[in-house]
Amino acid sequence: MSKLRLTKIPASEITPFSVYLKRREFLTGAAAGLGMAVMAGKTALAEPLQSTKSDYVLDEKLTPLKDITTYNNFYEFGLNKSDPVNLSGGFKPKPWAIEVDGMVNKPGTFDIETLIKDFPLEERVYRMRCVEAWSMVIPWDGFQLSHLLDRVEPLASAKYVVFETVVRPSQMPGQSGLFQSLNWPYIEGLRLDEARHPLTLLAVGLYGETLPNQNGAPIRLVVPWKYGFKGIKSIVRITLTDKQPLNTWKATNSQEYGFYANVNPEVDHPRWSQASERRIGEGGFFGANRRPTLPFNGYADQVASLYSGMDLKVNY
Ligand code: MTE
Repeated sequence: MSKLRLTKIPASEITPFSVYLKRREFLTGAAAGLGMAVMAGKTALAEPLQSTKSDYVLDEKLTPLKDITTYNNFYEFGLNKSDPVNLSGGFKPKPWAIEVDGMVNKPGTFDIETLIKDFPLEERVYRMRCVEAWSMVIPWDGFQLSHLLDRVEPLASAKYVVFETVVRPSQMPGQSGLFQSLNWPYIEGLRLDEARHPLTLLAVGLYGETLPNQNGAPIRLVVPWKYGFKGIKSIVRITLTDKQPLNTWKATNSQEYGFYANVNPEVDHPRWSQASERRIGEGGFFGANRRPTLPFNGYADQVASLYSGMDLKVNY
């Protein structure tokens, strides 16, 4: 089993590498003649971000920017993996504010630009594991969700955090067609202690630039020890509550998707095994790009204690 190295390192050691990779991937993407939407997303919308601090690094090869931005799920734009990049060009992520309400002392509406100034951005390289048994290694730029939660002062009675994606049928073709794949808005939730965990990020960029539309612009959740569907995109509201929220995928099919969604190689999805994963962007014949899936996606040392005493087969 590959060992995860999760250490604190100074920004100076990692930023030049990611900047180098970013340039390289951009050039590679341009040379490969990516679709207009990708190029428009990169050139017209992406802006450099100042990620001043870098706390976490993962000792694995980064997934190329081209793969991260052209192969993913964002049902508001369609069901296919290429729909998000191809159909999100008309989405307007600026200006943007997040409303934080519910069981808090200081509810408020927070402008993203202001949050980015208030909470210095960090670059964090996280392994990401999709429930569909593929994975990526992504250099996110973001700030800890805990900073925003501290600002609104959750009440002692608050136990859960609910997240909500924007509803904008005019800019999101998957929300406006006759066939509706999911009930909108897309909803996700975390227990308050999971939300406050230092690994839990609100990401506003990747590879040192603002998030492309297809990856959840302008702000999305990143919880690296959980399956990818917990990473809700384009967030407009965060609500503190004392009841476990019903997240979108559990509401859609509770046999297959739960509330916790912790990466667990021992609990199979009803239709496929979760024991191994395909690393996107790594070629390889005869399954050479498959690797074993790690408990909690390799972050067990950091997060397993959150679930002590819980049956993780029941709470999947
Ligand atoms: N957020 C919204 N609003 N709508 C979605 O359809 N899909 C989820 C998650 N967040 C989704 C979403 C799923 S299933 C995955 S695997 C990740 O986004 C994939 O996107 P990423 O590769 O950019 O993390």
